Amino acid sequence: MKSIILGITGASGSIYAQRLLAHLNASPDVGRIELIISQAGVRVVGEELGINVAGSDARVVEGLIGFPSDKTILHPISDIGASISSGSHPVDAMVVIPCSMSTLAAIASGFTRDLVHRAADVTLKEGRPLLLVPRETPLSAIHLENMLKLARLGVKILPAMPGFYFQPHTINDLVDHFTHRVLDHLGVLHNQETRWEGTKKRV
Ligand SMILES: Cc1cc2nc3c(=O)[nH]c(=O)nc-3n(C[C@H](O)[C@H](O)[C@H](O)COP(=O)(O)O)c2cc1C
Repeated sequence: MKSIILGITGASGSIYAQRLLAHLNASPDVGRIELIISQAGVRVVGEELGINVAGSDARVVEGLIGFPSDKTILHPISDIGASISSGSHPVDAMVVIPCSMSTLAAIASGFTRDLVHRAADVTLKEGRPLLLVPRETPLSAIHLENMLKLARLGVKILPAMPGFYFQPHTINDLVDHFTHRVLDHLGVLHNQETRWEGTKKRV
């Protein structure tokens, strides 16, 4: 069973994190989710989803996904001595979703100021899969250079760019389609309903 670190930072798109956390909880493939929410992440989740995720007790996770989760461990963002701040703690992969340009820059520079940065730094140094879901527009040369630097180090950059080729009807369709792609890259099983099977031939 997989152990995944999920970081939520203060970029727009907290609905992606909400849905990914729910999918990870539902997957029989995942045994443990180590959740970290940055201070700005708490603010953006509040503004976008109307959910208060301040604090670190189990009710935060239940409030975010709508059901209790015995798989999820919520780490305080300032706890740079948490288990996941050490490479000796077994973890299969880490995803930061959504990933702010600030956290992207911190990871690219190795200048770690909170537990999201530190856990990503450890994931990189241990050679484990690291996925970032950046969101900003337009992108400056600094943002692009940071993404290129990380991509060259093997970090998977999955910009929060929803596709429209599968004819989505709702925002939920768009969010599910994108989070399924993230699950694919994490190597986590899901119901695969949104995989592209090629253009349907008209008869
Ligand atoms: C409502 C709101 C939306 C934001 N959207 C973005 C965004 O899409 N991308 C981004 O890089 N920063 C965005 N920010 C700014 C970040 O939250 C800010 O740079 C913060 O310092 C990031 O800190 P963190 O990386 O520790 O979460 C947003 C801030 C707010 C309040």
